[in-house]
Amino acid sequence: MLFYRGIRPLLFSLDPEKAHQLGIRTGSIVQSIPGVLRFIRCDPNVDPILRVALAGIDFANPIGLAAGLDKSGEIVPAMQAIGFGHLEIGSISARPSKGNQTPRLWRLIDDAAVLVHYGLPNDGSVVVAKRLQDLRNRDAIKTPIGVNLVNTNEPSSGPSSPDAVIDDYRESAKRFADVTSYLMLNLSCPNTIDGRGFFEQSSRLDDLLRSVTEVTGDVPVFLKLSPDWEQTLIADLLDIALQYRSVAGVMFNLSAHRREGLVSAPSTYQDRPGAIAGRPTKDWMDRRTAWLFRQLRGTRLRIISAGGIQNATDAYRRIRLGASLVQVYTALIYHGPGLVAKINRDLAERLRRDGVNQLSDVIGIDAMER
Ligand SMILES: Cc1cc2nc3c(=O)[nH]c(=O)nc-3n(C[C@H](O)[C@H](O)[C@H](O)COP(=O)(O)O)c2cc1C
Repeated sequence: MLFYRGIRPLLFSLDPEKAHQLGIRTGSIVQSIPGVLRFIRCDPNVDPILRVALAGIDFANPIGLAAGLDKSGEIVPAMQAIGFGHLEIGSISARPSKGNQTPRLWRLIDDAAVLVHYGLPNDGSVVVAKRLQDLRNRDAIKTPIGVNLVNTNEPSSGPSSPDAVIDDYRESAKRFADVTSYLMLNLSCPNTIDGRGFFEQSSRLDDLLRSVTEVTGDVPVFLKLSPDWEQTLIADLLDIALQYRSVAGVMFNLSAHRREGLVSAPSTYQDRPGAIAGRPTKDWMDRRTAWLFRQLRGTRLRIISAGGIQNATDAYRRIRLGASLVQVYTALIYHGPGLVAKINRDLAERLRRDGVNQLSDVIGIDAMER
């Protein structure tokens, strides 16, 4: 983390998207040099106390990479080497997409946040599924990998028909069924025309799950929902999800609304499109997670939660509020790749100090208080 603190001013002097691309390129180079990853590898098996089983998958620790950093699965070996318990790549669509117009990513440094309006650029499911298959063939996948799927964003051609949207997910799901540990169906990208409101008609989730599960069999499926949706809509969607055996859980995406209380200069976010990720989402996502946990009590559905996790205290609190796994993205931009091992080490220490036997014993124990 000390090394990252040294190079951060240099990275932050670059345009944010250029810095992101540089990170991907650096990861690709590092992982292509034989032996280098072995040298820097952080074992995800930090401490047996952190193990979590979910959807029939064993996770060495609860800290995962959130979707959107490795959009096209280009740096899986490098990301595995920094100690994540799982990686979620994507969002990936049936066809490649260039996403929204640039500029489309901004830093809100005083808030430890970013404003994101990428609009789902990715290489498309044909290319990315082949990338994952190649890694599997080389036995290079050591960590559970989730593939986050979305409808192809083509801003210039306007909204797609409902059948076309569902076929898009199904096509991708079929390509990844044999190479992924789980699928995350992203139902709620705040930054695309089809992404925002499509599943507000809840019967479309039924159509989607019928279509996707036909081609994915027993692959565990998770749903990424909008935290902005009405509680009654979310309840309807959860009822539908429960009818499909392979649906194992849910998480919330970023909110399309700006939260109050940002400390950054308004000029850094006003008049710019996009959703805010990072520290400002933390308290609100804590509350949404606890609410979701209460909704899901007595069902088999479990929660993955992302939004403002920056350290072990945040991760521990989110788990106690109901998350079985947590994911991190923006904090990596501010604290660097060493953060993952640190969160895991600190979390294990914290659990032991509290006399907890196993992380799974504390999932949701504070959810009634929020
Ligand atoms: C630059 C950026 C790109 C993202 N792209 C995606 C995406 O393609 N698909 C998706 O489901 N979520 C995407 N997300 C949302 C993250 O997966 C995560 O839910 C969110 O950022 C909250 O976590 P954080 O506060 O740790 O960043 C993106 C987030 C950021 C910051």
